[in-house]
Amino acid sequence: MNLEGKVALVTGGSRGIGRAISMRLAKDGAHVFVNYARNEKAADETLRMILEQGGSGEVFPFDVSNYKSVQEAAGAIVKKKGRLDILVNNAGISVDGLIAMMKEEDWDRVIANNLKGVFNCCRAVVRQMIRQHGGRIVNISSVVAATGNAGQVNYSASKAGIEGLTKSMARELGSRNICINAVAPGFIETDMTAFLKEEEKEKVKSQIPLERLGTPEDVAGVVRFLLSEEAGYVTGQVIHVNGGLYM
Ligand SMILES: NC(=O)c1ccc[n+]([C@@H]2O[C@H](COP(=O)([O-])OP(=O)(O)OC[C@H]3O[C@@H](n4cnc5c(N)ncnc54)[C@H](O)[C@@H]3O)[C@@H](O)[C@H]2O)c1
Repeated sequence: MNLEGKVALVTGGSRGIGRAISMRLAKDGAHVFVNYARNEKAADETLRMILEQGGSGEVFPFDVSNYKSVQEAAGAIVKKKGRLDILVNNAGISVDGLIAMMKEEDWDRVIANNLKGVFNCCRAVVRQMIRQHGGRIVNISSVVAATGNAGQVNYSASKAGIEGLTKSMARELGSRNICINAVAPGFIETDMTAFLKEEEKEKVKSQIPLERLGTPEDVAGVVRFLLSEEAGYVTGQVIHVNGGLYM
């Protein structure tokens, strides 16, 4: 399970699930570019934690929804390190609302950040991975891509789109030794879910066979597996990490 010598880019790596993934990859030997869009302080804290555990990495600001910035960022990473082996598309937002009330800009914002952001990042790295004769991409989806969720038409559509993109890319790039998979978390305790009241969390918990909410580390462990030698024959899959909430 050694990522020594590998260069990884984790989008939205400053906190939550992205932080746990960044730390896990760095712990296992990768040099991790911790991307953030706005929260420089949190990204610096992630890097501090990586260095503290003996890992290597650097923070790297860009907005995944901006095509040009992403192209430049990927180019800069390759120029600096000479390679790019791993991309984890973790950056995501939710702007919830019922369809009857949803503003056009809330639809556009979520699609731009979550779906176009994944396209932008994949588009920016695949040529380098083809040149290297291999690479791994993990896209973070969500259980709601499969189940739907009232109040999340934009978010669930963006995540379902990510899963379609993942499967098409896996078909296009299998012959180039590039594996692309998606991880679909269920209910994970992060800032994204912190707004829920205790009784709402208890209600969700009662529907989870494992009887607990997930942690960012639960997701990071599965992402790490998909980046391992052992997962070399896994591509185009959606792996659910949800305690059994959906099966
Ligand atoms: N928390 C959950 O229960 C849960 C469940 C399913 C899926 N997910 C997904 O997991 C991923 C991580 O979520 P989280 O719970 O850690 O949330 P979070 O809000 O703590 O982290 C998301 C990160 O993405 C960054 N980001 C957002 N838009 C960006 C952009 N345009 N460019 C660069 N960075 C950007 C944010 O700044 C933030 O650091 C997201 O894709 C989310 O949709 C979360």
